[in-house]
Amino acid sequence: MTSRDSEASPLDCPVKHGRIPIYGPEFAADPGRVYAELRSHGSVAPVELSPGVPGMLVTGYDAALEVLRDPNRFPRDARRWQQGIPPDCPILPIMAYRPTCNLTDDPLRSRLRDAVTDSLDRVEPTVLREFVERSADTLIARIGPRGDADLLTDYAVILPLLVFNLLCGCPADLGDRMVAAIQEVLKWENSEEANMNLGLAVLELMALKRENPGPDVTTWLMDHPAGLTDEEVAHQLVMLVGAGSELAQNLIANTLRLLLSDDRFGGDLSDGSLTVEDALDEVLWVDPPLANFGVTYPVEPISFHGVELPAHEPVVISFAAANNDPSTLSDHRAGNRAHLSWGIGPHTCPAQGHARLLSTVAIEKLLDALPDMELAVPVEELVWRPGFIQRALSSLPVRFPAIPGAAPASREETPAPPPAPAVPVPEAPVPPEPEGWRRRLGRWWAGETG
Ligand code: HEM
Repeated sequence: MTSRDSEASPLDCPVKHGRIPIYGPEFAADPGRVYAELRSHGSVAPVELSPGVPGMLVTGYDAALEVLRDPNRFPRDARRWQQGIPPDCPILPIMAYRPTCNLTDDPLRSRLRDAVTDSLDRVEPTVLREFVERSADTLIARIGPRGDADLLTDYAVILPLLVFNLLCGCPADLGDRMVAAIQEVLKWENSEEANMNLGLAVLELMALKRENPGPDVTTWLMDHPAGLTDEEVAHQLVMLVGAGSELAQNLIANTLRLLLSDDRFGGDLSDGSLTVEDALDEVLWVDPPLANFGVTYPVEPISFHGVELPAHEPVVISFAAANNDPSTLSDHRAGNRAHLSWGIGPHTCPAQGHARLLSTVAIEKLLDALPDMELAVPVEELVWRPGFIQRALSSLPVRFPAIPGAAPASREETPAPPPAPAVPVPEAPVPPEPEGWRRRLGRWWAGETG
């Protein structure tokens, strides 16, 4: 790696044409080939994160541990970096600074993280299981009579959103709007209207909970002794629901793909010797939902594993590549959970247990209900979404003998969420006109940070 003037704009990077791109359909089709090529440069290699945007990708397991455990040398604050990035850069919305625990450094990080982890820890596993089962039953009743489905859009995408509605204490009508807004926002079309609708729905939920607190994550965040401001609560909620639901969706979909295509898991699902938990672990090693993230921005150049890391240039952790680093890879993966797919260090995922339980129950419910399900296309024809951050399928078409039940629902219909938990729901107070930080929150995903 050539050392660079730390003051240069990222877009003027002199070596950008020598960098290996980690975006586009070619990368998505076979990221393992790209990781292997990058490894020939050592544990860290220069890449292009998006056209014209340079970064350094950490592919070595030990190097990844070192970065993730050293927040002083590898801080998260993206503000200096993003000054040189055009507002329409497609990766800006997810990388730009926000006042959330994953994108900040101490002391703010600790305050926000305490509120998030304590609130998540108050969720009882039995309650979570019941929410997942209820949501799964709703969706299975809709697709069962059809005989075919896209398990991504008809199941994996919607189920975590329904569960989050329940966890956040969202009443049914507001939950409907939250689901619709997040689905719209996650199309990544930067729709002003979708972003605004999501921001408004979150504010409405907070106003509702202020009037009528309940046993839910929204109330717990608002009441936490860390004393989060309204703005901070709103940002943590959008992060939890937006990021959490996408990652859970991809863990479910990637695991279903493996179960439906690999003989070790039965192929036809009925006589495989390995369990859903085994399949989940294998996906976490091989196709982790968060493939490349944990982005840090050294404030000064650092010599690291024989490479000069420029100041203010993103250092991205390849969880996917580090898990499969040949120098540390073990042959014995069964029961081995030493992968990095939940992160490690001060930003490690605080919802590992929740995400595992949610995904396992969601998959088991589906397999129990539709045991003769099979892929509707050869597994090689399944398409992965472009982009380096997530390992996410574009669709997961299946067919199965239709099961009797309710009349088949139209494919376009957004399912209504299951009934909200039994908390009194007053008339929703009219939310204030979004201005200032509220407007910025509404534009969360649009990367407008000013
Ligand atoms: C129930 C769903 C989920 C929720 C609510 C959730 C929540 C979070 C939160 C709040 C953080 C930031 C922690 C911090 O910076 O202090 C985080 C980090 C992380 N999560 Fe999760 N998560 C969920 C599911 C998943 C799934 C399915 C995966 C993939 C296996 C995952 C992988 C990660 C990783 C790798 C990090 C660390 C990223 C980094 O170092 O920047 N999460 N998660």
